[in-house]
Amino acid sequence: MAYQFKDDDVICSCTNITKKQFLKVINDEGLETLEQARDETRVNVACGMCVYIVEKLLADKQ
Ligand code: FES
Repeated sequence: MAYQFKDDDVICSCTNITKKQFLKVINDEGLETLEQARDETRVNVACGMCVYIVEKLLADKQ
């Protein structure tokens, strides 16, 4: 679950983006959807394994 990830934990191993980096981008850019997050950060466009955590972080931001 998202709360189990620490700020410096990598949430998408294909891009090596950390939870903190991802949250900064979605907050700074006002991203709300998975598609927007994919376009801006490139998360979840390779293997797709991180879809759960990416969607959870986006949902928690609402
Ligand atoms: S872990 Fe995110 S696309 Fe592979």
